[in-house]
Amino acid sequence: MEENPPVRLLTASVINQLCHQLDIRPTKQLGQNFVTEPSAIRKIVREAGVEAGDQVLEVGPGLGSLTLGLLEAGARVTACEIDPRLASFLPATIRSHASGAAAQMFLIQKDALKLVPADLTGLSSVDEEAKDAGIERGRKAPDVSSVSSRDFSPKILVSNLPYNVAVPVLLHLFAAFPSIKRALVMVQKEVALRLCALPGNKVYGVPSVKIAWYGQARMGSEISRRVFYPQPNVDSALVEITRETNPLDIGVLEGELGNLSSRAGSAGEKEVERQEVFNLVDQAFASRRKMLRAGLKSWAQPLAAESLLQACGIDPTARPENLEVKQFVALARLRRALLAGFENFSESAATSGEQTDSEAVSAACFDPGCGGKTGKKIGIASANAKINLFLACGESVAGYHRLSTVFQAVSLKETVEITLQPNGIDLEVSYSAPPGAVGYHPGRDQEALADLDPQDNLATRAFMLVAEHCGYQGGVRIQLNKQVPVAAGMAGGSADGAAALLAANQVLEAGLSREELAELAASLGADVPFGLYGGTCFADRRGDRITPLPPAKRLHLVVAVSPETLPTPQVFKQFDQVGAEQAITPTLPEISPLLEALYAGDFGSLAKLVRNDLQASALLLIPQLKATMELARELGGIPFISGSGPSVICLVDGAAKAEKLAAELAQLEQVAYTLPLVFSPSRQNLSGKQWLA
Ligand code: C5P
Repeated sequence: MEENPPVRLLTASVINQLCHQLDIRPTKQLGQNFVTEPSAIRKIVREAGVEAGDQVLEVGPGLGSLTLGLLEAGARVTACEIDPRLASFLPATIRSHASGAAAQMFLIQKDALKLVPADLTGLSSVDEEAKDAGIERGRKAPDVSSVSSRDFSPKILVSNLPYNVAVPVLLHLFAAFPSIKRALVMVQKEVALRLCALPGNKVYGVPSVKIAWYGQARMGSEISRRVFYPQPNVDSALVEITRETNPLDIGVLEGELGNLSSRAGSAGEKEVERQEVFNLVDQAFASRRKMLRAGLKSWAQPLAAESLLQACGIDPTARPENLEVKQFVALARLRRALLAGFENFSESAATSGEQTDSEAVSAACFDPGCGGKTGKKIGIASANAKINLFLACGESVAGYHRLSTVFQAVSLKETVEITLQPNGIDLEVSYSAPPGAVGYHPGRDQEALADLDPQDNLATRAFMLVAEHCGYQGGVRIQLNKQVPVAAGMAGGSADGAAALLAANQVLEAGLSREELAELAASLGADVPFGLYGGTCFADRRGDRITPLPPAKRLHLVVAVSPETLPTPQVFKQFDQVGAEQAITPTLPEISPLLEALYAGDFGSLAKLVRNDLQASALLLIPQLKATMELARELGGIPFISGSGPSVICLVDGAAKAEKLAAELAQLEQVAYTLPLVFSPSRQNLSGKQWLA
């Protein structure tokens, strides 16, 4: 077989000659400098790791110095040249210096900033173009299929980039060509340092973050000024950029949480996210010297920049150069997710006719002087039951597990009425059938509470805390009206504690703020603080640090109450035996996809994103719950265990389906009764700036 003649690289004298011959004077405007040293060319190709058969994109081939080096390595090269004179001359150089490789070389004359994948299909090779010209002179037509670039999708970008547009060209090509997995480019040394800079570095800026969004940048060799014609007055260096497999989720969502990223997984959604992140980066660095809480003020609108930063675990006094790309991603994600909930705010206030929010009820019913002639002081407050739409459980510290959870209040409430009396503590408990309940009988809950010492009741303990705070030493009569199933994973007992704190605060005129009440609540139990807020909340630490969120869409659900009860500590203990190694507790921005699904009422996504790490433990302790979940799933619900169980929650699409499902599940032997419910909004009058606070 006939061997291809070797590729001859361009030398300084040839380049000089070519420029002279063609009357080409490299233009500053196009940032042209030609490499004249074959050894420098070979070094670039070597550092690029180009191998025979690799599909390489080259931007700004100029006279063809690097192009020939790439062809010498056996690459298939498509070069994009903006300068029409150079573009028209390059094929001849390739044919004369690499005749055997001309079939592997394709050329497009275009501005690289406008280059898109479609431009690279159907190009004829340089060799092919020559033969085409021959056809016109009456020669035989060649076999086009073997040489056209129909399937060209570049894997590597190797370029001596025009220095004045190096960063925009790089960013554009990484965005436009997902096929590019690696880039080895020569740029001005300062630009190389910028591209590779890490947070905290003096030169860390917009290019550093944007490139980091795509992958990792690493400094390569420095290239001497002497190898260029004309000799530039700046130093040059190589930079290697390796695309990360999933730039969207760099370190943000990993392992088990991978499913959380599924909603943002399509190419279109990734592009939307990229634009949002880049916009944020531009805004942050526009006031580089300002603290982020000030610099991002207008970007965060209508949310408060400071709260948003805090929710993402970022110090609000930090400056943009302190932030890694994943922190910019987190900020952009969380803001987008929360804004979606904004729209639900007025809607939820308008559609919710029931008195569900603790504060609203408390305010409506409390009258310090009420009782009129009798002079009795009465305070009344309610708090809602909760379900956990997301519950990630981490390691255990000092008897408690680190949690990351999304609480959602539902339309079931505990009401506490507190009447001051001269002395003695009396506790009365009554039960109400929740509206629409199927098969309800208070027997289950009465039995579950039968052995409780009134002194141990959370409502009593809550009252005592407030009494102690304001030095009240008289007696009290506490009337508890229960709707929430006892020991069922819906925080009924905790709601008693929360409602009693609110009622006591009123009746004793203690004047405690919500934050102060939340501290007392946390001392009563991990779930008690949520009862003070209601609505949709994120919680971390033990589940006691509450971050109020905008309201979810008003979804329907059915609760299948188990005749059995499950003590919470037992479920956590079981968890330690079966699932403790899974110790990832995501932060608020990491669960943004779930929030977006909630705010949109997107059932399909919710089905994938709902998570409860305690579910497996609850199912091990009460295996019959599995059958309840299976039937619920068959009937079109999204079943899961709430909190530590054993209630089976089924999200359903609409009131009619909820009613039907409630009727069906109530027939099951392992179900005591069913409750068709809806999500309850918080009645707190939170503005955008207060969510997250
Ligand atoms: O705080 P509360 O009294 O509601 O918690 C009951 C029990 O549940 C705790 O004593 C502990 O065993 C378990 N728990 C836990 N981790 C949490 C919350 C509760 O282990 N974050």
